[in-house]
Amino acid sequence: MNEHHTPSSPGGAVYEPTEYVHEKSWLTSLEQYQELYQQSVEDPETFWAEQAKEFLYWEKPWDKVLEWDFDDPHISWFAGGKTNVAYNCVDRHLHDGRRNKAAIIWESDERKSKVYTYQGVYNRVCRLANVLKAHGVKKGDVVAIYLPMVPEAVFSMLACARIGAIHTVVFSGFSATALRDRLQASQAKVLITADNGVRGGRINPLKAQADEALLEAPSVKTVIVVGRTRQEVDMMPGRDVYYHEEVSRDDISSHCDVEWVDAEDPLFILYTSGSTGKPKGIVHTTAGYLLGTAMTSKYTFDIRDDDVYFCTADVGWITGHSYITYGPMAIGATSIVFEGVPTYPDAGRFWDIVARHGVNQFYTAPTAIRSLMRSGDEFPNAHDLSSLRVIGSVGEPINPAAWEWYYHVIGHDRCSVVDTWWQTEGGAHMLTTIPGIMKMKPSAAGLPFFGMQPVVMNSEKEPSEAATGEEGRLCIKFPWPSMARGIWDDPGNARFKEVYFSQYPGLYFSGDAAVCDEDGYIWLKGRVDDVINVSGHRIGTAEIEASLNSHPEVAESAVVGFPHEIKGEGIYAYVVLKDGVDPDPGLDQILAGLVRKNIGPIAKPDVTHIVNELPKTRSGKIMRRILRKVAAGITDKEQYGDLSTLVDETVVDQIIDTRPHK
Ligand code: WT7
Repeated sequence: MNEHHTPSSPGGAVYEPTEYVHEKSWLTSLEQYQELYQQSVEDPETFWAEQAKEFLYWEKPWDKVLEWDFDDPHISWFAGGKTNVAYNCVDRHLHDGRRNKAAIIWESDERKSKVYTYQGVYNRVCRLANVLKAHGVKKGDVVAIYLPMVPEAVFSMLACARIGAIHTVVFSGFSATALRDRLQASQAKVLITADNGVRGGRINPLKAQADEALLEAPSVKTVIVVGRTRQEVDMMPGRDVYYHEEVSRDDISSHCDVEWVDAEDPLFILYTSGSTGKPKGIVHTTAGYLLGTAMTSKYTFDIRDDDVYFCTADVGWITGHSYITYGPMAIGATSIVFEGVPTYPDAGRFWDIVARHGVNQFYTAPTAIRSLMRSGDEFPNAHDLSSLRVIGSVGEPINPAAWEWYYHVIGHDRCSVVDTWWQTEGGAHMLTTIPGIMKMKPSAAGLPFFGMQPVVMNSEKEPSEAATGEEGRLCIKFPWPSMARGIWDDPGNARFKEVYFSQYPGLYFSGDAAVCDEDGYIWLKGRVDDVINVSGHRIGTAEIEASLNSHPEVAESAVVGFPHEIKGEGIYAYVVLKDGVDPDPGLDQILAGLVRKNIGPIAKPDVTHIVNELPKTRSGKIMRRILRKVAAGITDKEQYGDLSTLVDETVVDQIIDTRPHK
């Protein structure tokens, strides 16, 4: 293992928040946080009712703040209340002094930028909402969005929300097959895509990919195509229309009445990977989700009205949903939408954006920090980063070396580094280091956000004693407003229960290992399920294995993660070929191509290791623990733990001997 992945633990460096940050922080002391936190857990209903009134506009008040059950999972916040997410994110700001404030600053791959005011967003969202209605979209219908990082991605999400349609954004880096699977699973009626995507000077033929997916997705009746590059693409008459033509039609108005929806009506579905089977369509609902994202945007990032906020995520992931679109816009912030990549035209791109737009809050992932750190300090040093106040991290545990570089070289020893732990299922920050008031411990996610009741469960399935440093599994005891309500197309919440509420009865199980220290700071130790965290993106091993196994010469496969200097985790595939098949030297390329086709480039194995057999227990289970050790370069069998349940221990020796990287 390399230095970057030395496990970090309590007892390391501690940094006090600086006056520079504290001066502008919404919360003024740790005691104030503690007091509010106490209220949020002692009387959650009163606490959240107050916050819901403060942060959201309600067309009609709710009947009941909270109803919940973690055994037969059912969670409901503010049921009976009527509101609308687009109204909260856009319309409100036309009357609160922010009408001409920049809502979105779009920074294109080519370094051009465009500013959209709240009024400008309103007009565009209304027009698009009317276009959707004209194509038959009604409340509760599903609209898929397969767009690159263009402002139309944000407008599309908000247009759906405005009319009560449920969006499902599919990351534009996913393949045609992955898109097809999500269109089929969600039964989307409309797809909004682009002719092409542009990233790092390269063209991504999105419409062509969409066309391939649509061959097997008959639920989609209309395809709305954003002209990003305006190059000619195939358009199917009767199905495909151009976005810019539709929204500028004379009969399309720039006003569209808001559909007032129930607090618990679904806002979106977002597919994410789990241990087994196909990706799960995580369902988020309206009011609780918006409350969580709005409140964390304010307190975790300390956004002030004249600030410019920049989250580098893609809207295809939950971070983009919650912290590019919904959270920042709910509080009337200015949010940058960046189309490109961190290394184009050079490794100073983020810092160039920070300097040119005067960014005050910057939010990115450890993988980006590590790769930019490697490119050298001359890139950040060439730009004026003095506007920065809060710099955030999300996606995986940030290793201390990357944290220190971020703090010193980007934050100039005065910004708060906020490490935010959360998940697609959580909707909004769950653990975080609130700036200006909380001390920072490199590599620890920090303290629970308001209302979050974490508990670390030990191997006896008991809560670990506080401050013993005992590692366990991170669970949550009590519902929070922005948590997922279920999985799409999951009758009786059966899969929802099985995945999140069955390992620790009565608790929500996060899938992560963690340690709690004497200050209550929680240190994340990675996933404990068969999910690989590649560059902060969740990839299910089962999905990769299914792709590998689809090759006619492959008998079976097992995929595990291994420590990777930049990506956090890399993908290591063990492949067993069918009897009598000789491994062709180009096979790993062919297999990688299959994975790319079925999922997307991010899921391609870094290492493909052809083995004779997989280590299996007498009950037929693959012993993944061994495979993980070998993948990590640990070849000393003493460190493998108990091997006595294996059918044949020599399988392990064969695997060690044939490791491709020695
Ligand atoms: C998993 C969730 C939620 C945004 C992006 C990923 C890991 C996320 C942290 C962090 C340690 C983290 C966890 C979690 N993770 N943030 N600050 N420290 N680990 O969302 O794809 O749903 O993945 O990402 O393992 O379970 P996601």
